[in-house]
Amino acid sequence: MENTIIIRGGRRLSGEVEISSCKNSAVAILPAVCMASEIVKLYDVPEIEDTKVLVRLLEKLNIDVIVNKDVFTIDATSIQNVDLLNDDVRKLRASYYFMGALLGRFRYVKMYSPGGCNLGPRPIDLHLKGFEALGAKIEQVDDTITISAEELKGTDIYLDFASVGATINIMLAACFASGKTTIENAAKEPEIIDLSSMLNKMGAQIRGAGTSKITIYGVSRLKGCIHDIIPDRIETGTYIIAAAAMGDNVKVTNVIPQHIEALLSKLEEMGVKLEIGVDYVRVLSAENLKAVDVITQPFPGFATDLQQPLTALLTSAQGDSSIEETIYMERFKHCDELNKMGANTEWTTGRSKIHGGTKLHGAKITATDLRCGASLIIAALMADGETEISNAHHIYRGYENITQKLRNLGADVQ
Ligand code: EPZ
Repeated sequence: MENTIIIRGGRRLSGEVEISSCKNSAVAILPAVCMASEIVKLYDVPEIEDTKVLVRLLEKLNIDVIVNKDVFTIDATSIQNVDLLNDDVRKLRASYYFMGALLGRFRYVKMYSPGGCNLGPRPIDLHLKGFEALGAKIEQVDDTITISAEELKGTDIYLDFASVGATINIMLAACFASGKTTIENAAKEPEIIDLSSMLNKMGAQIRGAGTSKITIYGVSRLKGCIHDIIPDRIETGTYIIAAAAMGDNVKVTNVIPQHIEALLSKLEEMGVKLEIGVDYVRVLSAENLKAVDVITQPFPGFATDLQQPLTALLTSAQGDSSIEETIYMERFKHCDELNKMGANTEWTTGRSKIHGGTKLHGAKITATDLRCGASLIIAALMADGETEISNAHHIYRGYENITQKLRNLGADVQ
């Protein structure tokens, strides 16, 4: 039963919730540690399914990982570049960061192609084109990928799309490429800056992370370092939306407001009253919310990961809202589940429409992916009666201690 979350909705939320460290930063930083020739100490690694899977993969590479609460001491000095051909690789998309890290350090990597949430087609062509541009050869047999290179030479790479994963993977491999690599039309997500600052502490020469042009000057080895992972902007947005839905003065702490500006301004457009501090956001009130239109964009635009949680809130706003997805065209499975709770939404490839003013009621529903799960939890908090969310394992991949955090805010969650 533990793969099911049961929520009795309609209860008001109050108090404080502290945000954990960023999943999408941690899942890039853990594979990057493969490149270190000395010990790396990571603080605040979120204890979520994805990081547990990545630790198992690090151990398969004969890397020592000592976990003491949320401090990870990782020793990759005796790393062995074994082929990563096991099911763990398929449990999350971010396992593909081992490609850039191992190709960079060993000029060779062999592993299964990645898994992850079912959000529609998720190719990695931009990653592979980047590796080829650096001089690597790619072989794909069934779902096994082998990437090898005599040598990696810096070059200029232009990304057709500002892909987060491709930007990170190319940045990793380029750290050990000879000479200068530039990545144009690079993604600007905060996770990229966080990774770049850790790599530079290890002796990498990366400039421009967070802008659309990143320059990497190759080095021959990377030292150890100490690194504290940034707070999770998507978890932050999720709790702020939940507070807007059912909160009476909820304070969300350990926040970098600059990382969720698009969401905050959209919520204010809806009529949510916010107090934005240096490292917290307090949701003061949210009555008679207005419908809004949202277009998802790469950072700093409105995050695709937050359109699903926001949809739950929009079911109760006055009027019709629309969501236009420019990143994942099929990321609307939450709409069908919300409709089982009395919502009135419809969707087609690339867009959804939410007819607001509906009152949600409890139902038996299923989380189809991580942020769909987040959306259903918010809807269940809003709904009259009991909601049973199955396939909760999707949710535990990206939200540390979510049931405890919600109970601390006054929710009735099992
Ligand atoms: C990252 O995925 C995040 N995952 C996603 O969060 C997030 O939704 C996404 O960025 C966009 O912000 C992690 O960081 C682990 P992309 P990623 O490469 O890197 C297409 C969550 O809920 N594309 O920017 O896979 C791709 O199909 C997850 O935490 C190619 O066509 O995103 C998609 O349509 C879900 N070819 C678009 O680009 C490629 O080689 C965005 O992909 C790569 C991507």
